[in-house]
Amino acid sequence: MRMIDRSITINKTNLKNRLVMPPMATAKSNVDGTVSQTLCEYYAEKSAGGYIGLIITEHSFINEEGKASKGQMSIDAGCDIEGLKKLTDTIHKNGSKVLCQLNHAGGAASCEVTGHEPLSASGISMPKAKETQKVPKEMSSSDIHKVITDFTAAALRAKESGYDGVEIHSAHGYLLNQFYSPLTNKREDEYGGGIDGRIRIHLEIIRAIREAVGSDYPVALRLGACDYMEGGSTIEDGVYAAKQFEKAGVDLLDISGGFNGYMRKDTAEPGWFADASAAIKREVSIPVILTGGVAAVSDAEKLLSDEKADLIGVGRAILKDSLWAQNAMALG
Ligand SMILES: Cc1cc2nc3c(=O)[nH]c(=O)nc-3n(C[C@H](O)[C@H](O)[C@H](O)COP(=O)(O)O)c2cc1C
Repeated sequence: MRMIDRSITINKTNLKNRLVMPPMATAKSNVDGTVSQTLCEYYAEKSAGGYIGLIITEHSFINEEGKASKGQMSIDAGCDIEGLKKLTDTIHKNGSKVLCQLNHAGGAASCEVTGHEPLSASGISMPKAKETQKVPKEMSSSDIHKVITDFTAAALRAKESGYDGVEIHSAHGYLLNQFYSPLTNKREDEYGGGIDGRIRIHLEIIRAIREAVGSDYPVALRLGACDYMEGGSTIEDGVYAAKQFEKAGVDLLDISGGFNGYMRKDTAEPGWFADASAAIKREVSIPVILTGGVAAVSDAEKLLSDEKADLIGVGRAILKDSLWAQNAMALG
């Protein structure tokens, strides 16, 4: 039997195989983030036949200040629980499990979209920010407390909406990545400095979510483990952080890039972040997802058998071809 066809358990939830559709923003929600018919049809088409063990829906904003773009899905206080229930129900009926990706864009958000001043770990520009991007305001301790509370409330709404679990987004330069990375976290209080300070907010969010959703509900975290940039976060940071996240109650780690984004320009091999995922997998006992550059099932199989990860995400190949999973899994 191929590795990719083997089932795996996340907390107490069983996935039928190790193929993951990673979160990919579609901008198909209504302007206010509620669920549109087009969004439902998109996920119905991608999950048809139930060939994908785990679908992680595109990043959803946890509060107004954290909204990244127009047409982004909402899991904030104004979200569409009934619409989300239909969405998760469709995916379940097709035979896949589904996580909700919870996000706050932080300093990558814009006033035009949110109507609020952007917030971040420190009051400095994001690396590679456009000139028009406003410099964010450094978050006060009450701003931090609000974000923790809002992540937690969002996780509870996801649970109520029928999601099988949640994924906390800390990759690709969004708010939690901004706290994690020394490029954007210059704080001098307990939320900055060394790696323990830079992941304090993550640990507080993980513990608060765990406390709220209960011990059996899957909680994942997408970690942009390394920035692959001068002065940025390193794989060693990622390994250390992953161990702390596991201790705090995370059930699944989803490894991607940091401020370099979800692509890795210096690596052509499928499994761009395999250096980070393999290093992390060796040090934790929870499952690890690796995503990036995989477009052939044979490549996914090789990454699994080489122990680079426990599950493999296939993004753009599935985005382009809704029959990708059927062809890869049914013919196995
Ligand atoms: C159109 C598009 C939207 C994306 N949106 C998200 C997102 O909402 N959250 C996230 O964590 N990653 C997002 N990503 C990154 C993907 O999850 C994935 O890591 C990336 O596409 C690399 O995998 P691939 O080579 O299999 O496509 C997005 C990627 C694309 C192409």
